[in-house]
Amino acid sequence: MLILVTGGCGFIGSNFVRHVLASHPGDQVVNLDLLTYAGNPANLADVEADYPGRYRFVQGDICDAALVGPLVAQADGVAHFAAESHVDRSIEDAQAFVRTNVLGTQCLLHAAKQAWGDGQERRFLYVSTDEVYGALRLEDGRRFREDWPLDPKSPYSASKAAGDQLARAYHHTFGLQVLVTRCSNNYGPYQFPEKLIPLMILNALAGRELPVYGDGLYVRDWLHVLDHCRASDLVLRQGRPGEVYNIGGNSELANLELVQRLIALVAAKSGQDQERLAGLIRHVKDRPGHDRRYAIDAGKLERELGFTPQMGLAQGLERTVDWYLSHQEWCRRVTSGEYRQYYQRMYAGR
Ligand code: NAD
Ligand code: TYD
Repeated sequence: MLILVTGGCGFIGSNFVRHVLASHPGDQVVNLDLLTYAGNPANLADVEADYPGRYRFVQGDICDAALVGPLVAQADGVAHFAAESHVDRSIEDAQAFVRTNVLGTQCLLHAAKQAWGDGQERRFLYVSTDEVYGALRLEDGRRFREDWPLDPKSPYSASKAAGDQLARAYHHTFGLQVLVTRCSNNYGPYQFPEKLIPLMILNALAGRELPVYGDGLYVRDWLHVLDHCRASDLVLRQGRPGEVYNIGGNSELANLELVQRLIALVAAKSGQDQERLAGLIRHVKDRPGHDRRYAIDAGKLERELGFTPQMGLAQGLERTVDWYLSHQEWCRRVTSGEYRQYYQRMYAGR
């Protein structure tokens, strides 16, 4: 297969590109990424050498129909990860979210419809999120199933829900072989340190304050990114077209408890005093409209495709702390913004 991966220089996309190249020796990957602040080709620095002739990077915008058309036409499948992905940024300014997550998705879907036609084997994976379901109360024992009504609450999740519904509409209306996955919160290597887990690890390592929004009793279901990649790949290849598959980690945890666990790991591995690190926790102003709890029922994926996560939370968090500790230069470049100038020069004129 030749797979067009969008957003392959981001956190999940880069892990997905590696996963495909490593586990499907006959496959090729074309990675289309605009290189926004979240896109960092250093995440894939070694793949061109490790998999000669099987990986190609194209810097560009998923909203650019002239660019997207031929790339989709030559692909056997699309794995669409590209997005504006951070809730707090969407609260600051939602414009880029609507542009990329809604219009960009429509541009890709249109290209697939034009190039692939009806009844084709070629498949389109839309990587959605559990946030499209809205929020659960803490005392609500239920978990989101695929037939749960969509009720997105943030500009980010609203834009992802629009893309999700468009993707399904292209299946219903045009017969495009669309698969949708709705995944819970990911963590692991190469995650941009604006998200909770890497932010807390790097702040703790540097002795900076650890900002916990509100009371810190917000609950997320954490999934290691490699499990997400395995699940996405499985759905892309074996899922039933037109269907939605939840992906979850069976690892619900309140933010405050998660931060305490990260502090314990950072303290143990860096030799810092755990109590002193715990003293860096600050309860800061809450996120407006903050979703209280997400909880995923991923039973359909297990029943239909036999998928269960392999990485438990304790092991996954420890590995993640190890990864950030052993990739200090990556962290320095990302937090300083240096990587952007470097790659702007490197890819200028391509
Ligand atoms: P990310 O922000 O780390 O990466 C996004 C990538 O998309 C970047 O490389 C960026 O340069 C690229 N991009 C942005 N706009 C683009 C455009 N217009 N054209 C081309 N490329 C563009 O995001 P992530 O955390 O890796 O998330 C990937 C996908 O998974 C997103 O669709 C997100 O909604 C979804 N998702 C993420 C999580 C999570 O916990 N991170 C959970 C569920 C679903
Ligand atoms: P985040 O990583 O932004 O993912 P999402 O909002 O998509 O779930 O945040 C995870 C949780 O952590 C969420 O409840 C918000 C909270 N949070 C903090 O308490 N402090 C922070 O500095 C950040 C970035 C998030």
